[in-house]
Amino acid sequence: MKILVTGGAGFIGSNVIKYLLDSTDYDVVCIDILNDFYDTAIKERNLLPFLDNERFKLYREDICDFEAMNKIFVQEKPHKIIHLAARASVRDGIKNPLLYEKVNLGGTINLLELSKQHGIENFVFASSSSVYGNQSKTPFSETDIVEEPISLYAATKKAGENLCYTYHHLNNIPITCLRFFTVYGPSGRPDMAPYKFTDLIYKGEPLPKYGDGTSERDYTYVDDIVQGIISSLEKNLSFEVINLGNSETTSLNDFIALIEKLLGKKAIIEQLPMQPGDVDITYADISKAEKLLGYKPSVTTEEGMKKFVEWYLNTVE
Ligand SMILES: NC(=O)c1ccc[n+]([C@@H]2O[C@H](COP(=O)([O-])OP(=O)(O)OC[C@H]3O[C@@H](n4cnc5c(N)ncnc54)[C@H](O)[C@@H]3O)[C@@H](O)[C@H]2O)c1
Repeated sequence: MKILVTGGAGFIGSNVIKYLLDSTDYDVVCIDILNDFYDTAIKERNLLPFLDNERFKLYREDICDFEAMNKIFVQEKPHKIIHLAARASVRDGIKNPLLYEKVNLGGTINLLELSKQHGIENFVFASSSSVYGNQSKTPFSETDIVEEPISLYAATKKAGENLCYTYHHLNNIPITCLRFFTVYGPSGRPDMAPYKFTDLIYKGEPLPKYGDGTSERDYTYVDDIVQGIISSLEKNLSFEVINLGNSETTSLNDFIALIEKLLGKKAIIEQLPMQPGDVDITYADISKAEKLLGYKPSVTTEEGMKKFVEWYLNTVE
């Protein structure tokens, strides 16, 4: 079976491709423009282990280019799609709204339209916990009404879910929208807290702390997310929106303290106010994922951060 993975050079995508190629049941076509939102050398490094694999093919193309996408569909005839390519930052999205609209909506609709035209068997869409906005009811459940995204990024992810539903409704394409909750692990994104905090504490540089440190995040280890993605890929559910989190929250203060403990080094805190677009808490109800996908996250934040810091010290430092 041939799987098209968009955003495969990125953090989650490269971990998904590793799983698909290791399992031997799949051929992988990867589309990634390797943009410079963060150091492209990281993306090149992510792809390196796959380049000699004859079951892997890379297209450095833009998902916003419909004709280029169509050529790939015609040539490769993928069976299923894991659509991860996106502009993926809350703060960057507030600065670049038109770019977020172009890639996260325009790019997604291109892939949905081609999925319709080419009879794709299953489409897995990367959504985000950010769609829950600043709601106070926890844990966040898929049945909660999510009409108040508080960042451009969140708004494009919610709109992406809506586009997925419409394409499913009109064309009967099986689509699963997965709402990921703060994913971290080896090859993690340098703009996200787990990597950024580790790097700043290790280098003895000031760590910008937004708010009083009581904000909470549901940190999810990337291997658990990959299991949820693969299960969605294999199940061909009709249309579902499903949370993939760890269902365990850690406050910002505790998270910084954990990294300090793992590195044996104190953070130099630069106290700053909460940022526009940031939510107070993310916390996933994962009962739907357990029921429909057999999803069971197995890595605690303490264990996962230990693995991440080991990877950081061996790879980046
Ligand atoms: N990492 C998280 O915690 C998290 C949480 C919620 C949702 N998500 C979603 O999961 C997906 C993957 O996230 P990630 O953390 O791996 O991000 P990432 O930035 O590491 O990967 C995204 C990849 O998409 C590629 N890309 C961007 N625009 C493109 C375009 N126009 N054409 C082709 N390729 C393009 C980038 O080059 C990058 O390699 C994204 O859709 C993101 O919104 C991630």
